[in-house]
Amino acid sequence: MRQLTIAMPKGRIFEEALDMLRTASYNVPPSFDLSRKLLAEVKEEGLTFILAKPSDVPVYVEHGVADVGIAGKDVLLEEDRNVYEVLDLGISRCHLSVAGLPGAEPDPFAPKVATKYPRIASDYFREQGEQVEIIKLNGSIELAPMIGLAERIVDIVSTGKTLKENGLVELETIRSITSRLIVNPVSYRLKDEAVRQLTERLQLVVQGGDGL
Ligand code: PRP
Repeated sequence: MRQLTIAMPKGRIFEEALDMLRTASYNVPPSFDLSRKLLAEVKEEGLTFILAKPSDVPVYVEHGVADVGIAGKDVLLEEDRNVYEVLDLGISRCHLSVAGLPGAEPDPFAPKVATKYPRIASDYFREQGEQVEIIKLNGSIELAPMIGLAERIVDIVSTGKTLKENGLVELETIRSITSRLIVNPVSYRLKDEAVRQLTERLQLVVQGGDGL
């Protein structure tokens, strides 16, 4: 029996990822409710799911407590963990952008950028040749320009609703983001058959097939 532990983020990516596994003919029950559970098994398929905070998924996979994981490219770039990225799942599409109040100019002496992604933001502004102070926040980033903490933010934009509802506009797009299948380097070798099967079956779904 294949035995794989899969780390996944709670919430929207999780639902999309489960749907993908079902389309790939994994027997994941429709009533598989993990709204409160953090660890669950689908015995017939030899799959154990770890439900984690999105930014912790690569940590579990790097340390090998999960063989594979599903993580956003944003998290992978920010965390820079020792994991193999084997497949672009094409789900949870969004982009990383610079945003701010319309018409607001960066402070000419001490420009500030608030973000959950200090590494990505620093790299981006360095590449642009702009020196900024990065202020790390853990959520509700859109507040920062409204209350004068920073003139600009770097954050995920999905529907654009959060920006709109808070009177902010997108100023620059940094890159597009999708969820990726990642693998622990040791599991990649020791559980190669199970990992390969999972990757191939999900790849068929990505390409529009029905799985195996
Ligand atoms: C993310 C992101 C934005 C929002 C974008 O926040 O940080 O705030 O979603 O989505 P939208 O364009 O569809 O409105 P999340 O819900 O993860 O919460 P957070 O504020 O805690 O980061």
